[in-house]
Amino acid sequence: RMSRRLIECRRDIDRLNAPFLAIYESLIPAEEEKAKQKQLLTLLEKLVCKEWPTARVYLYGSCANSFGVSKSDIDVCLALDDQDINKSEMLLKLADILQSDNLQNVQALTRARVPIVKLMDPVTGISCDICINNVLAVVNTKLLRDYAEVDIRLRQLAFLVKHWAKCRGVNETYQGTLSSYAYVLMCIHFLQQRNPPILPCLQGMKPTYAVTVDDVKCAYFDQVDKLRDFGSRNKENIAHLLWGFFNYWAYCHDYANSVISIRTGSVLSKQEKDWTRRIGNDRHLICIEDPFETSHDLGRVVDKHSIRVLREEFERAAEILQRDPNPCGSLFDQY
Ligand code: CTP
Ligand code: MG
Repeated sequence: RMSRRLIECRRDIDRLNAPFLAIYESLIPAEEEKAKQKQLLTLLEKLVCKEWPTARVYLYGSCANSFGVSKSDIDVCLALDDQDINKSEMLLKLADILQSDNLQNVQALTRARVPIVKLMDPVTGISCDICINNVLAVVNTKLLRDYAEVDIRLRQLAFLVKHWAKCRGVNETYQGTLSSYAYVLMCIHFLQQRNPPILPCLQGMKPTYAVTVDDVKCAYFDQVDKLRDFGSRNKENIAHLLWGFFNYWAYCHDYANSVISIRTGSVLSKQEKDWTRRIGNDRHLICIEDPFETSHDLGRVVDKHSIRVLREEFERAAEILQRDPNPCGSLFDQY
């Protein structure tokens, strides 16, 4: 399956670097958009604290982890010290409050895996999801943001991969494909595995940051300003890395036996994770370990149909980057 041509990178790959960087630049949100997000967050803080004075409001997800492209929705977490709250009741109450303040399309989704209130702010035009006490998500948002500070190539690679996934329709967990969060973990893993490595394994270093959330101990080295030179021995540019990323997921990853793990900076076996049997909806057809909730496989949404879709898309992308005379166009064709 791995023909000689596929192992050997195309000789003119560097010629593609400038156009891919231009696409990356075009996806970066404008300062004006960041200001509008801040404005909406301030409004939400005000409304929430009127009703629940001890509540804190955090941003998480792409608007806070530095992997947000322009026109993203924002993800907000409402944190309360009281552990015994009834989330459904609280979300319904919150929905009422938001509705009375003229926010639009307010909807409480109390039966979702992560219950949320959705809304759209007519002033800024920004949509937003609010969840309650999902503090692990706030912590993994910080981890991703810290990784992004180490080497700019992570942000470049993740932007292009997320953009590709959205264009190709493989960023839909309800259809059995992967979340943006999963794609960013795949990018971090890939850059940890380069030789020489572009990213370190922050959780494998002496912790400078530690919190315990829902009985999960989260600790890692977060003084990333000291790691700015970490990847400098590796000179691979973004075109080369993008090709390598798709080539890895198309032809090199061992889907039958392997689990990628940014927590350990390595590949684990399904055997040692005990991810060999199907339990409930956990199918483990592509295994991506969550860095903190280590029993959580981000690939668990993938089923026997969508794994084929995903792998065909990885192969398509690898082939385009290998052979297409003008890959910057076709790679991102709407499916
Ligand atoms: N998250 C999580 N576990 C998951 C999925 C998501 O903890 N299985 C959390 C992560 O903190 C992630 C956030 O929810 O950063 C938002 O997830 P997602 O929408 O997948 O990522 P975004 O970075 O917000 O991407 P997008 O730009 O597509 O909104
Ligand atoms: Mg999001």
